[in-house]
Amino acid sequence: MIGCGLLSAEGIVHKRQRRVATPAFSIQNLRAFAPIVFERGFRLRNRWREIVDKNDGDEAVLDVCMWASRTAFDVIGAAGFDYDFNSIEDNTNELFCAYREMFELAISQQDSPMRQLLGIYFPIINVLFPDSAARTVKRCHKVIWRVAGTLVQEKKKKVVDAIRSGKPCEDKDLLALMLKSNMSTDIPPDQRISDEDILNNVNTVMFAGSDTSSLALTWTLWFLAKNPVMQEHLREELSIVHCPDSFKDFSVDEIDSLYGSISELPYFDKVIKEALRLVPPVHSSIRVAGQDDEIPTSQPFKIQKPGGGIETVTMPIMVAKGTIVHIPIEAFNLDKSIWGQDAWEFKPDRWDNLPDAVKAQPGLYSNLMSFSVGPRSCIGMRFSIIEIKIVIYMLVTNFSFHDTGVDIIKANVVFTRPYIKDRYKEGSQLPLRVVRIVK
Ligand code: HEM
Repeated sequence: MIGCGLLSAEGIVHKRQRRVATPAFSIQNLRAFAPIVFERGFRLRNRWREIVDKNDGDEAVLDVCMWASRTAFDVIGAAGFDYDFNSIEDNTNELFCAYREMFELAISQQDSPMRQLLGIYFPIINVLFPDSAARTVKRCHKVIWRVAGTLVQEKKKKVVDAIRSGKPCEDKDLLALMLKSNMSTDIPPDQRISDEDILNNVNTVMFAGSDTSSLALTWTLWFLAKNPVMQEHLREELSIVHCPDSFKDFSVDEIDSLYGSISELPYFDKVIKEALRLVPPVHSSIRVAGQDDEIPTSQPFKIQKPGGGIETVTMPIMVAKGTIVHIPIEAFNLDKSIWGQDAWEFKPDRWDNLPDAVKAQPGLYSNLMSFSVGPRSCIGMRFSIIEIKIVIYMLVTNFSFHDTGVDIIKANVVFTRPYIKDRYKEGSQLPLRVVRIVK
């Protein structure tokens, strides 16, 4: 669906793509995205104000999952490739609909899992005998290639023209940064990636950077709604940093400094870490051993004996080349033997005094596996933290969030999504009572 971008490329192809993409995600470049996120935060706040006002009162029940999803799409569209989906206002943009439809297909139950599996192993089947899913992907690809493909070409022309004229191209979106990096003298010509791979990476960033961040936002709001005292504590801390009513007269430096102030608030930081620990949007991953290896073990464990029966042993686990290894991200974050007996509870203050075992845990972000670790870890981690912090700041300083009493279940459907218990057919949703607190 998303083509051979960073998520699906392997080996040398992946290495080349990662080298081209890495400078685009540097701290300096990402700070330039703060104004874009604040702007979308304002749009969401204003849209919710309108809904609440129309509701003849100060409150409304909103599906925060759907609104977070639209916001994350708008943020990644603008920051990723300078494109305004405008989905907070209106969800009919054709590129937005094409991406949404295609990504929803990835999480929907297919009529025939066997047919789907055959299509994965023998993709030619999808070309010769397309089923309805293959036809939908084809239709969505047509729109994506036409609209996003044109954006890639236009942006490339802008970057090339700038290089030729000797004036730097000032565009700071990820697409422009990736194109500049791909054409820079640091990358030898044989290490550059094709326009098609650039487009595949636009699709990859749309996929990897939209639902993940929106689910992190959704679950954070859920934990705050379930824990009103913590929500109030957070609001008090956030209110120290005054949020203007618009950024019309603000310089980029002033917005950057505003973000700097909120990003350093200690309780806020703990709330975000704790939400990302307790519900990592990417629940697990898979790796394949590239060579024979052994995994050292810290405790005795049980194995099934070849002749039957169970034996407790203390030895390294042998992993043969080609073995598929499940990486249980959520289990790493929730393991009581590491995090303590209260590991399954939402307790932001735990971050003041972490057990030594946690400090020894690997992880790209604060000893958490939520963004994975190593050469295939999340390239967008810093981006998403900026996004989550700004959007939560804007929402919590303007609204309060309350449980509606429905039973919310988390289910791993590609990502960890909220559903109302016994109402799975209605799709992923998280209704909260949202009360306007700033007039
Ligand atoms: C809360 C938000 C996010 C979470 C929890 C998250 C988590 C992850 C995880 C666990 C991986 C490793 C996947 C695997 O090994 O199977 C990953 C990879 C990736 N993420 Fe994120 N992500 C988030 C946001 C983002 C954003 C905002 C972007 C882009 C702007 C992004 C782009 C990517 C890409 C391109 C990869 C593939 C990296 C590679 O293989 O080289 N992610 N993410």
